[in-house]
Amino acid sequence: MQVLVETLVNQCRRFYKIGTLTMSRSLSQRKCLSNALTESVPFSRDFLFRQYFDPTSSTYTYLLADVKQQEAILIDPVIDWVERDSKIIQELGLRLKYALNTHMHADHITGTGRLKLLLPGCQSMISRTSGAQADVLLEPDDRINFGRHLLEVLPTPGHTEGCVTYVCREQGVAFTGDALLIRGCGRTDFQGGSPETLYNSVHSQIFTLPENYRLYPAHDYSGRTVTTVAEEKLLNPRLTRSLDDFVNIMKNLNLAYPKMIDKAVPANKVCGLYGVCEEKEQ
Ligand SMILES: [Fe+2]
Repeated sequence: MQVLVETLVNQCRRFYKIGTLTMSRSLSQRKCLSNALTESVPFSRDFLFRQYFDPTSSTYTYLLADVKQQEAILIDPVIDWVERDSKIIQELGLRLKYALNTHMHADHITGTGRLKLLLPGCQSMISRTSGAQADVLLEPDDRINFGRHLLEVLPTPGHTEGCVTYVCREQGVAFTGDALLIRGCGRTDFQGGSPETLYNSVHSQIFTLPENYRLYPAHDYSGRTVTTVAEEKLLNPRLTRSLDDFVNIMKNLNLAYPKMIDKAVPANKVCGLYGVCEEKEQ
C-alpha cells in the first residue's frame, strides 16, 4: 500500500511539476485520479466494436467492423471459440477480411487457421518478427484497412520479440496484446522476452498515445475489460516504476512454466492448424 501511495504521489509531481510542500498527499492523489478519468473518444456510428472472452485462458477477442461496408476483422481469436465468432459474424451480415494476432501466444491456440476454413476469403495476419506463418506478415507502421477504417501497427516487443499493438486513431482505441495489461504487463521470461525492451516499448509507443485513448488488452484475470493511457501511466504498479525497478520486478516473478506453451507455440507458428486435425482424428 505504501509503495502504491508513493507511486501515485511521484506521478502527480511529475504530471503537474508541483513541489513537495504545495499539496497534501490526499489532494494531489485526488487531482491525478480525476485527471486520469478523461472522457474517451466516442465510437463513430459506422464502427462496430465487440469484446469476447475465453474463460480458459482469460483471453479477449475483439471484433471490429465497418458497419456500412460490412467488412470485419477479428483480433486474437481463440481456436475453441471460432464457431461462436464465425456465427456472430455471419448473423451480423459481415465479411471477415482478416484474423490477426497481437503476437504468437503461448497460452492458447489461435483461431486464425480454423477461421480461414470456416469463412473462406479471410486472411491471417501476424508480425513478421513473430516468426509465425500467416497470409500477411506485418511490418511496423503498416496499415490494416477494413471498410473505411484502419488500424496502425506499432511494434511493442518485450513480452515476445514479435508483439505489436494495433491502434485505431479515429476511434481512440489501442489493442495492446500482452505488452500492456490492465495494471500489469505480460511476462518477459520466454519467447525472446526482455524486460528492458518491454519497458521501452510501453513508454515509447503506448504511453505516448493521447491520454484518453482506451486500451484493450489480450487478457485480464480479474474481470476488468478496459483501461486508458492516463490510468496506466498513473496506476500501473510495474510500469510507473524506474527501468531498473521494473527489470528487477520482472526478473523476480518466479512464474511457473506455462502449461500450454509446448502445444500452443508450435501450433501458432503455423496459424493454429498444426496437429489440430491429427488430434481430432485420434
Ligand atoms: Fe502472450
